Amino acid sequence: MCGIVGYAGRRQALPILLDGLRRLEYRGYDSAGVAVLNNGTVEVRRAAGRLENLVERLAQDPIPGGQVGIGHTRWATHGRPSDVNAHPHCDCSGQFAVVHNGIIENHAALRRRLEDTGHRFTSETDTEVIAHLLEAEYDGDLAEAVRRVVAQLEGAFALVIATRREPGRIVAVRQESPLIVGLGRDENFVASDIPALLPYTRRIHVLENGEMADIRADRVTVTDWNGKPVQKAFIDVTWDADAAEKGGYPHFMLKEIHEQPQALADALRGRLDPDGARVVFEDLSLTPEDARRLRQVYFVACGTAYHASLAAALLTERLAGVPARAEIASEFRYRDPLVDEHTLVVAVSQSGETIDTLSALRAARERGARLLGIVNVVGSSIARDCGDVIYTRAGPEISVASTKAYTTQLAVAALLAVYLGRARGTLGDHQARELLAGLRDLPELARETLDQAGELRPVGEALAQARDLYYLGRGLDWVTGMEGQLKIKEIAYIHAEAYPAGELKHGPLALIEDGSPVVVVSTQPDLHRKTASNVQEVKARGARVIAVVREDLDDLGAEVDHLIRIPRVHPFLTPVLAVMPLQLLAYYAAAARGADIDKPRNLAKSVTVE
Ligand code: M6R
Repeated sequence: MCGIVGYAGRRQALPILLDGLRRLEYRGYDSAGVAVLNNGTVEVRRAAGRLENLVERLAQDPIPGGQVGIGHTRWATHGRPSDVNAHPHCDCSGQFAVVHNGIIENHAALRRRLEDTGHRFTSETDTEVIAHLLEAEYDGDLAEAVRRVVAQLEGAFALVIATRREPGRIVAVRQESPLIVGLGRDENFVASDIPALLPYTRRIHVLENGEMADIRADRVTVTDWNGKPVQKAFIDVTWDADAAEKGGYPHFMLKEIHEQPQALADALRGRLDPDGARVVFEDLSLTPEDARRLRQVYFVACGTAYHASLAAALLTERLAGVPARAEIASEFRYRDPLVDEHTLVVAVSQSGETIDTLSALRAARERGARLLGIVNVVGSSIARDCGDVIYTRAGPEISVASTKAYTTQLAVAALLAVYLGRARGTLGDHQARELLAGLRDLPELARETLDQAGELRPVGEALAQARDLYYLGRGLDWVTGMEGQLKIKEIAYIHAEAYPAGELKHGPLALIEDGSPVVVVSTQPDLHRKTASNVQEVKARGARVIAVVREDLDDLGAEVDHLIRIPRVHPFLTPVLAVMPLQLLAYYAAAARGADIDKPRNLAKSVTVE
């Protein structure tokens, strides 16, 4: 997820671009850059880090002027955050400047082909291939060249392109990644999202997949990629700036919950090869041979990432036939763990900066373990320390309470378990295909799951009155309960505990009394009947039961007070969907209590002290 802005008009472009980027920084902030067309040149300035760094660079090396330009604020997916990986990217001759949001899946093959014909690359990004392809394809008309280029791209992209060969024009295309066009008087705009445009215009077109906008000061033409004109309706935006930044949601947390289908699609993009029943991890140096030599796998992490690790360990053990366990990072490092060169230690982290996880990783390295990161922030400390890393591609997560980072960690953990299982010969072709099909369906099923949000609101609001809450489940469903209880603790400040349902009668059952709210998760066909017995046990003591059940399983007995269905998916993948209602229940309970949802008391997004 990156922020894009473009301008063609009569005013100076640079201040408008910088203002737009400032309003889009919530979409990414690891580097920023602009390109302005000025007197037959493309003036490009880029800087790693926050937007202020770019502003400083511009103060030292100003752009003299120009009424057409493009800008970008980056959230890295390919290539660490740095000056050279910042957008815009240019071709060898500096004629074309490109900004991009998304992932070009076939960039490596395109890059090899271009290098064979003499193109020299300066960055590690997937985006740079587009600038070089434009140089190769341009024949006097930018829109035509862009059409020929996008026909060669696979993946997701929102692109905005400027060239000094046609200085009055920018061209924008959309495939999967969002892009809107803003219409002004003698000036027109393009951006990834509405906040960038609010001070200038409230009349927008939303570009759809497969559409292209040819943007000049006095007109905008929208076509499909074959050049066929498309009649677009206007939308008049009524949001204020704050609401626009949150996509119309009252909090970033709710926005991020609803971004999960897209985040999952991004996490899986280019990594599923159903033809070969294989998982493809570009750039992973852990070879199938290395995987075969492993004798144990540890997942180390904190908080929500630890819960993803619990699921990862269960899946790895089942699918890859290797002992696997999850460890709380702050415990792992102080207990002299028995790890050696046959151990894979996987650090799971959204921020990539959590000091406990980083220290655990260093303790594992000292003992000779092989390291791997499952990380969201590209170029973060954990990603750099591990060397080998699989990025979750969730995009920036602003709310302190983790949501989309968690579900993308679960998806990547499932991919890793399949990868290891195939490499070690413990996962057959048929089962691998079933899992890959399930993974491919996840974004759509996540959308269906979230469609129930409205119905969950009163249920969450009713929980706002609770003093104590209990979450029950078995196996992967217990993991979901663990994450559910953390969510409601951290944002609604309600005391909550999760137990493996079978443990109930060994103690916690004593806590259940008349009216005690109990959230039960049951999505595993082989454990469903057992969990149903535990529901009877708490009901008999007067509990009020909210149950999350996979739609093809029975309703756990008529006494369940509120039944939430999730779509049918492979049992190993249900945690991705089952947690979503629990995120929403926590959110609505916190909202009813008037809590500061995005910034809960006493907590920070990234914990960099022990
Ligand atoms: O950035 P990390 O994933 O390493 O952070 C780990 C935890 O601090 C984090 O998951 C925390 O528990 C969240 N606030 C939970 O919502």
